[in-house]
Amino acid sequence: MKLLRVILLTMTSFTAASAATTVQHNVFGHMPDGQPVEIYTLKSPAVELQVMTYGARVVSLDTKDRNGKMGDIALGYANFNEYLKDNKTYFGSVPGRYANRIANGRFSLDGKTYQITINDGPNALHGGKVGFADLNWSGKEIPSGVEFTLVSPNGDQGFPGTLTAHVRYTLHDNKVVIEYSATADKPTVVNLTNHTYFNLTGDGSGTILNEVLTIDADKYTPVNSTLIPTGQLAPVGGTPLDFTTPHKIGERINADNEQLKLGHGYDFNWVLRGKMGVLHPAAQVYDPASGRVLSVETTEPGVQFYSGNFLDGTFKSRTGAKYNFRDGFCLETQHFPDSPNHPNFPTTELKPGQTFHSETTWTFTTK
Ligand code: GLA
Repeated sequence: MKLLRVILLTMTSFTAASAATTVQHNVFGHMPDGQPVEIYTLKSPAVELQVMTYGARVVSLDTKDRNGKMGDIALGYANFNEYLKDNKTYFGSVPGRYANRIANGRFSLDGKTYQITINDGPNALHGGKVGFADLNWSGKEIPSGVEFTLVSPNGDQGFPGTLTAHVRYTLHDNKVVIEYSATADKPTVVNLTNHTYFNLTGDGSGTILNEVLTIDADKYTPVNSTLIPTGQLAPVGGTPLDFTTPHKIGERINADNEQLKLGHGYDFNWVLRGKMGVLHPAAQVYDPASGRVLSVETTEPGVQFYSGNFLDGTFKSRTGAKYNFRDGFCLETQHFPDSPNHPNFPTTELKPGQTFHSETTWTFTTK
């Protein structure tokens, strides 16, 4: 009886959540070869999320402030063509096949060495020259959201094996759920994340330095001058990277710290406390100006907190304002950078017959 009640209750709340989210899609623009790029609008009473097939990207994300007023908190462009012109920021995208850096774009798997295209100093960043962020995925409506699919052929950017990747965005009241999965027909490596830049005061409203960050991590992976991990897991304690208690992003960003100098601000991977494979807290951000709170949970072992240090006024928001230095931040839940070259890091190898699966959630509240 009790069990039946639990089942019924679960079913009711699931139906209620699905019923509250509407999904619509339209054409947002066209790829240079004429392929249509679709934009999906997911709407619940609390959140409106727009995502597109190009790069499986978040285009806009409207949430309520403490007065109940909706506002966009994701950096992005009004027109599709502006995304094609920007090969620098990765706004809203799902980078792949390997998000973050691989040293010299090189790694070995089963005794064979692979060379990935280089696009960031000496390294491969976010999957090389033409990564998943630059490709038009296919989209299909699913309950409460959309599923994007991409097939990356054997040898794409130098990676071995054909990889089929799926990303699902679903919206459940005040929570966005992002699920990633992938399979391959040969041993390969995979690391998928979402590269949305948040500004909780509002897209185009200026600096993120007054927003207050907590990261659920006691350690991070220190980097060298090209932002490749040294392989150590170092304690954050006593450094400006310690966000185990809340701190304004800007409070210690200019501190005399070697890592902060190498990153031109925060651009590091934190080692999350939670158990990999199970949803655990990754980070929380509170914006005193709007009252918005973003809580990030993930099944991934790490999170790259990037404070928008490469934004330099080149690109313009849909509000007309320039995106300047540190006008947005990213919380890229992921496996650690350069894992294929660090046997002590959680593995990013994917073998035929296995399915890679991960999940990240964004929950929006106010205070
Ligand atoms: C990631 C990297 C940054 C930067 C951005 C894109 O967050 O860690 O160094 O390259 O992507 O600009």
